Amino acid sequence: MVDIVNLIKERARKHLKKVLLVEGEDDRIIEAASKAVAEKLAKPILLGDERIIKNIAKDKQISLVGIEILDYKKLDDLNSRYAKQLHELRKAKGMELEEAQHLIQNPNYFGTLYVRLGKADAVVGGCKFTTAEFMKPAFQVIGKRKDVVCASGVSAIVMADSVIFLSDTDFSIKPSVEELAQIAMNAAECAQSLGFIPKVALLSHSTKGSGEHPSLLPIREALAIVKKKRPELIIDGEMQADAAISPNSARRKCPGSVIQGDANVLIFPDIFSANISCHLLHQLAKIEIFGSFAWGMDKPVTNGGRGYNADEILNVIATAAFQANL
Ligand SMILES: CC(C)(COP(=O)(O)OP(=O)(O)OC[C@H]1O[C@@H](n2cnc3c(N)ncnc32)[C@H](O)[C@@H]1OP(=O)(O)O)[C@@H](O)C(=O)NCCC(=O)NCCS
Repeated sequence: MVDIVNLIKERARKHLKKVLLVEGEDDRIIEAASKAVAEKLAKPILLGDERIIKNIAKDKQISLVGIEILDYKKLDDLNSRYAKQLHELRKAKGMELEEAQHLIQNPNYFGTLYVRLGKADAVVGGCKFTTAEFMKPAFQVIGKRKDVVCASGVSAIVMADSVIFLSDTDFSIKPSVEELAQIAMNAAECAQSLGFIPKVALLSHSTKGSGEHPSLLPIREALAIVKKKRPELIIDGEMQADAAISPNSARRKCPGSVIQGDANVLIFPDIFSANISCHLLHQLAKIEIFGSFAWGMDKPVTNGGRGYNADEILNVIATAAFQANL
């Protein structure tokens, strides 16, 4: 098994980073934070009511040593300084001060603002809140990097001798041509950050014109954009999944392609196919899925999963610390 977890943890340990956990009152999060301290992966900050957090830790016999508790609702300047800063950030988008004062009570808004202000290095959420509840504030407050069209979610399938990256498993429901191209470049960058040479396949139900349908045009246009922007990147499409990952199929279906069944970055046309594939692989084939990585954000944001246990959340914290170390 490729030890991607160890790879991420080693990089996370390089410089101990402050990782803020917006769902600090959840027992799985408290346990994961404690494990992160024990493994020297990060300096966790638990957001939430100090009394509740301490009671859970006592009940479950979880050590809080090395963990900061940020009982943000008790901050004297929550409704003044922090709400004003949120208002400042969003007023051009029509946010009134009263709305900012209301939203700052929400841990997703406070947590992402705290990171945006540089008071913590990375933020983790989406382990109790849905992706939309966590990511919308993250997009509004932290936002994407200036040099990208959009941020995207990258999930890694970890197998015996290889890792395959899937995207966008998390955010863009029906990406535009420009977004699809960016999703491919983000996923390639993510694979590179872990030491892999990306070989990118833009997936569909057709391989290099074997099918014809208007849905294939945006994929071909996205390919042209990536080839222009990143000429050195090994990329091709449109391609069926078997042509992308099976040398036998590739020989028959796309013998002239730069991808010969050896793609390690698979780009799906929409979130439906990406997210469904990810869950099917995990549930049916019992394949380990790591991530996802939110790639292209201006500061490290890591979106966990509501079904995650404490050990899986520990990996999410490690991923956040890893990205903060890049
Ligand atoms: C991600 C998501 C929450 C964004 O919410 P939304 O209601 O579409 O948000 P909006 O279109 O109002 O955009 C809000 C802000 O986020 C930004 N944004 C949205 N998606 C973005 C992306 N992929 N990258 C960067 N910014 C993005 C918008 O540009 C906008 O910024 P602005 O307000 O500063 O102009 C939404 O697309 C979503 O629910 N996606 C699917 C999530 C999901 O269910 N995933 C499956 C489980 S993991």
